Amino acid sequence: MNTTQHTLVVGLQFGDEGKGKIIDSLVDDFDAVVRFNGGANAGHTIYYKGQKIALHQIPSGVLNKHVLNIISHGLLLNLSLLVEEMNGLDAFSIKLTSKNFCISPLCTLVMPWHIAMDRATSGTQIGTTVKGIGPASADRINRRGIRLIDLFAEDFEKRFMDEGVIQNNILKVFGGDTLDLKKEYTLLVKSFEQIRGYVLDVYDLLNSLTKNNKRILFEAAQGMMLDVFNGTYPYVTSSVCDPSSVTQGTGYVFPLKKIGVLKPYLTVVGAREVPTEIFSTTADIIREKGNEYGATTGRPRRIGWIDIPMLRYVLQHGIDEFALMKLDVLTNIDEIQVCTAYWDVHIDEEIRYTPGYNDGLKHITKVYESFPAWKEDISGMSKFEDLPKNAKAFIKGIERYLDKKISYISTGVNKEDLIVR
Ligand code: GDP
Ligand code: IMO
Ligand code: MG
Repeated sequence: MNTTQHTLVVGLQFGDEGKGKIIDSLVDDFDAVVRFNGGANAGHTIYYKGQKIALHQIPSGVLNKHVLNIISHGLLLNLSLLVEEMNGLDAFSIKLTSKNFCISPLCTLVMPWHIAMDRATSGTQIGTTVKGIGPASADRINRRGIRLIDLFAEDFEKRFMDEGVIQNNILKVFGGDTLDLKKEYTLLVKSFEQIRGYVLDVYDLLNSLTKNNKRILFEAAQGMMLDVFNGTYPYVTSSVCDPSSVTQGTGYVFPLKKIGVLKPYLTVVGAREVPTEIFSTTADIIREKGNEYGATTGRPRRIGWIDIPMLRYVLQHGIDEFALMKLDVLTNIDEIQVCTAYWDVHIDEEIRYTPGYNDGLKHITKVYESFPAWKEDISGMSKFEDLPKNAKAFIKGIERYLDKKISYISTGVNKEDLIVR
């Protein structure tokens, strides 16, 4: 196997960087796409024949006939939402078969009580997507998670009922809505029947794809600042979102090319401090132009300026190439700001950004460099030379601060709206 046979696409900010779009653009060079972390909290948007599709658990390669789409055990699987998503693809005449789609039997399931618990608890404080990810992840780590493979067991109904009684009691303690377990069991089994034909040993499959020189694209969910260990805890998701999540979520340590995806500004959904948040009408302009509304919940995304110290923090994990998305959104913005440094006025020195250490501190100020915007429409451009002078200067400025060339620049929602350098 050559060392760049497989590639990871990973978000470098707070999610929604455009991972779905870049995967759609790059997928022609790959044989398989794997979702391996997060769950239905993810929303990856792709445009297909002019129509918008938001994918949540199904890998973003699904629109391409030649691609094998794989869900490995790292994804917290919600069966009823998966069936809904699969049925939704009918409208686009996309046919899933056991030849182009498979699911690891070792996926931990998001059960109805996890969603009820999410709604009753952290849903309100953290501003979660209420897809049950936190509680399902807690049960997985606490070794009481129910996995897809368990549904094949003859005594599964008893296991479900026994666990359901315990979970209903916990829900009562948290003031949540208890569940009608018989009804939930029937719904779960119905969904299971619809997907059981796709269940396959993914360890074995990934091994044999690798041996046969097939190329795999690993599609991370969320973004590195949402990582449960290294993000803005507790305002994070409950999964690992950094490159190590490939190993955890697939079981293999592949040599990978890592493509880090970022926007030329920041967006955030849910509660958390955003050091570079924009409070002027510029935020509304960017939100509307960039259609910055959650692909999973529809919530308006808060907007901030691109934060170089924060990017430098996540880049410690090692990234080989950058994909800068949504450059077209900044066309006609009065003045583009780039946060280039955090400054501690007590010691009069630049400091590093580390989440949790300098959040909300009044004596830490931010240093900005402002870049003039461009007026020319750049939507759909695919050549760097064609970009207006100011757009080129902005890209070069970011590259200077990140000390690395940006390999991909996205200029629109469609697969072909991409500059490759
Ligand atoms: P993901 O979660 O990282 O896959 O990102 P989302 O799909 O949640 O959000 C990204 C949004 O930006 C989607 O609505 C995409 O269609 C859109 N998008 C991606 N790339 C571009 C781009 O270059 N230009 C514009 N205007 N929109 C883009
Ligand atoms: P993609 O893959 C943006 C955020 C939620 C909330 C926090 C915890 O589309 O980039 P959770 O439901 O995971 O317990 O919520 O994490 N969050 C995301 N924000 N994009 C995502 O995924 C997200 N997945 C979770 O908004 O603040
Ligand atoms: Mg998203």
